Amino acid sequence: MSQSVNTIRLLQQSLQLSICNGAFCIDATMGKGHDTLFLAELVGEKGRVLSMDVQPAALEATAALLQKHQMTKRVQLVLDGHEHMDAYAAPETVDAVMFNLGYLPGGDHAIATKAETTIAALEQSLQLLKPLGMISLAIYHGGDTGFAERDAVLHWLKQLDHKRYTVLVTDFYNRPNYPPLAVQIIKEKQK
Ligand SMILES: C[S@@+](CC[C@H](N)C(=O)[O-])C[C@H]1O[C@@H](n2cnc3c(N)ncnc32)[C@H](O)[C@@H]1O
Repeated sequence: MSQSVNTIRLLQQSLQLSICNGAFCIDATMGKGHDTLFLAELVGEKGRVLSMDVQPAALEATAALLQKHQMTKRVQLVLDGHEHMDAYAAPETVDAVMFNLGYLPGGDHAIATKAETTIAALEQSLQLLKPLGMISLAIYHGGDTGFAERDAVLHWLKQLDHKRYTVLVTDFYNRPNYPPLAVQIIKEKQK
C-alpha cells in the first residue's frame, strides 16, 4: 500500500500554498530535477527558478527533464555548490528555497551534501528570502547517509531566533527505516 503522505509530498503541499505565479525560487540540490520541475510549474511563465548542483550529471538529467516538459526558459541551471548561492541572487528577493539533502540517486554516494556546506547555504538562504518566504528541507538520515549532517542541521535550527524565524520539524514517528525529516523555516515579517 502506498502511504498517503511522505516527506516530499508534505513539503510540496506547503510550498504550493506559499508560492505564487511570478515567484523566484531556488532548488539548492538539483539532483535529477524533480524538485526543479515542481518549482518551475509553480512559478509559471513569469517566474524564475535557480537550480544548483555540483555534479554535471545532475545538470544533464535536469536539462533533459525540463526540455521534455517545455520548462527550460524559466530555469537557470548552475554547476556550483549551494554554499555560493549568494553569488546568484540578491538579498530578500527569493520566495522559497528547497533542499533535498543526500546523494544523487543512482550516482556516487560519496558526493553527498555535507553539514558544513549545507549550513553555509542555509545561512545564505535566510538572507536571500523575502519576509514570509520559506525554506523546505528534506533531511535524509540513517543507512550510508549516517546522522552527522542531520544532527548538525537540527542543532543549527534550534538556535535560530524564534522572533525572526519559525521552524517546523516533522518526523514520521512510527515508520521504520529512518524516513527523511520534513523541515520548514518561515522568515517572519519584522515590524
Ligand atoms: C537527494 S539529491 C537531490 C534530489 C533532487 N532534488 C531531485 O529532485 O531529484 C541531492 C543532490 O545534492 C547534490 N549536492 C551535494 N553537495 C552539494 C552542494 N554543495 N551544492 C549543491 N548540490 C549539492 C548532490 O550532487 C545530489 O545531486
